[in-house]
Amino acid sequence: MKKIYFVVLLVLFSFTGLQAHQPAATEKDFHSFSNPNEVIVKHVELDLSVDFKRNQLSGSAILDIQVMKKKRKGKNELILDTRDLNISKVMLLAPGKRPKKLCFKIGKREKILGSPLKIKLPKLRSKKTAKIEIRYSTSPEASGLHWLEPQQTAGGIYPFLYTQSQAIHARSWIPLQDTPQVRATYTATIKTPKKLRAVMSASNELYPVLDGIYDFQMPQAIPSYLIALAVGDIKFKPIGEQTGVFSEASLLDAAAAEFEDTQDMLKFSEQLYGSYLWGRYDILILPPSFPYGGMENPRLSFITPTILAGDKSLVNIIAHELAHSWSGNLVTNANWGDLWLNEGFTCYVESRIMEEIYGQDRAAMENVLGYLDLIDEMSSLEPRDQILAADLRGRDPDDAFTWVPYVKGQLFVTFLEHVYGRDKFDEFLINYFEHFSFKSLTTEDFLRYFKKQLFDQQPHAVQWSVIKQWVYQPGMPESTPVPESDAFDQVYLEQVLWLEGEKTAAQLDTQDWVVHQWLYFLNTLPDRLSLAQLTELDTVYAFTQSNNNEIAHAWLLVAIEQTHEPAYERLENYLLSIGRIKLIRPLYQALAETDQGREFALDVYERARPVYHRLAVSLIDEILDWGK
Ligand code: BES
Ligand code: ZN
Repeated sequence: MKKIYFVVLLVLFSFTGLQAHQPAATEKDFHSFSNPNEVIVKHVELDLSVDFKRNQLSGSAILDIQVMKKKRKGKNELILDTRDLNISKVMLLAPGKRPKKLCFKIGKREKILGSPLKIKLPKLRSKKTAKIEIRYSTSPEASGLHWLEPQQTAGGIYPFLYTQSQAIHARSWIPLQDTPQVRATYTATIKTPKKLRAVMSASNELYPVLDGIYDFQMPQAIPSYLIALAVGDIKFKPIGEQTGVFSEASLLDAAAAEFEDTQDMLKFSEQLYGSYLWGRYDILILPPSFPYGGMENPRLSFITPTILAGDKSLVNIIAHELAHSWSGNLVTNANWGDLWLNEGFTCYVESRIMEEIYGQDRAAMENVLGYLDLIDEMSSLEPRDQILAADLRGRDPDDAFTWVPYVKGQLFVTFLEHVYGRDKFDEFLINYFEHFSFKSLTTEDFLRYFKKQLFDQQPHAVQWSVIKQWVYQPGMPESTPVPESDAFDQVYLEQVLWLEGEKTAAQLDTQDWVVHQWLYFLNTLPDRLSLAQLTELDTVYAFTQSNNNEIAHAWLLVAIEQTHEPAYERLENYLLSIGRIKLIRPLYQALAETDQGREFALDVYERARPVYHRLAVSLIDEILDWGK
């Protein structure tokens, strides 16, 4: 026993010694009850059983804590975040001693934050470490866990479980300091039904024996929102040296083919921004209810199956999640109001990767489409939601999720690239990732670093007021580098010819158009089109039947706006088979605009709702006034 603790401690110290993961940020995270300034969690050791009958995880989390600051009066307390956890016991573990029960109290549940778990600590000297074991189980309604019936999977035989911890859902399945200001390493033992396997955002054995017990290590210190788990009938197929795909068997070949460029993307990113520090980069394809396009869980991005288009047209999501290996996972936003530091930089890096691997034209098209999404959304956002440095006090970070941190953030980073030139800016970025690696930073930390490293070096390159406008003001600055694409100019010309009746749909010069050009064509159609025009388009181009989920989405939006009935059967199937918020929310929103549309939406939603992830459910409930 003693020896094991010694080894564990040794391992722990060697990691903490390697990486300084004290919070760089001093600003309080308003989305966490925790007190990392007093006591900090350095390592999490999970031992959890997965129960598909009860939709419950149960077991223990052992937290290695370190006292940062001794309280002058009274004893130290460890405050953890929880949401709907059932805590049965808290113990202090000491090498060679019997576990000692500790007193704990669960505070009042707050709607957005959950409940603080307050644990009384024995007297511990400053810098002293200790192990706290928490025995607990999760609620079937845990906000970070999605339990699927077999019929909601591709194979249809086995159930499936996946987690989505970002932004503040890790606390619904692990009691911890659920703030991106705290980084911890983790290990886990996950017990599953024998035929299933577990994978995590950690080291995954590629071809394990299916014995129902799986061990994981994440030796790099990561913020809690990156802890992830999935359990199901999951198989593996390699792509490149360090890259591969996990998914249900029926999707494995398609996914490996679709994402065959992943290794090249990784190599290029390393050239630009320094070594990839996470070992492997694998992709997990989830069932279609996965609420996001992708989630950058380290070593194992979680990805929606809706991007398996057969032609690599939607793989920018892979570039995006991979890019988070630098912006986000290595250098992390300190608060959810600083999300643009994660997402804006990541969209910029994503675009650089796409440009390198698929060419400038493709990257330019994607940038224009992103810009159109932003402008479109911006008009309906309150001024406070148009600001990069968001003030999310009192708000649920999931509700403040918009294109602003993404595309406005990317445009700001692109603006800086243009001001200083690509070479200089690349050098700045590689240093930035190195300087803040394994740290969290606030917007102010970024501005301070930027000022010293770039701004002060060339004080006439740009005015500080312009920088402040980008970061703190609503709307789009005049200095916005509006993206442009020649390939779209062509589309625009053809569209005008058709709209003005100069050409029929069949006469349009579309032979060489790629998916993005079609998206541009559909997204920029005028509000009012005749039924005859829609029918003509659909007859010639068969949008209703498109296998590309983005094209189908863009077309269905047009169809809803014009009540084009022939598309409604597809619309129904689409809403019943896809749960990705970005693809379904705008469709429900458009349907909710008319009485007839709303009725249709309610009818479909009643059937779709049990299958959607609760994040999607809460957004769509709101749109349709469900249950009111
Ligand atoms: N980390 C995000 C998803 C996220 C953000 C979840 C905030 C919860 C809170 C992920 O990297 C992401 O941005 N996904 C996008 C990808 C797209 C912009 C290429 C998505 O899901 O659509
Ligand atoms: Zn992202």
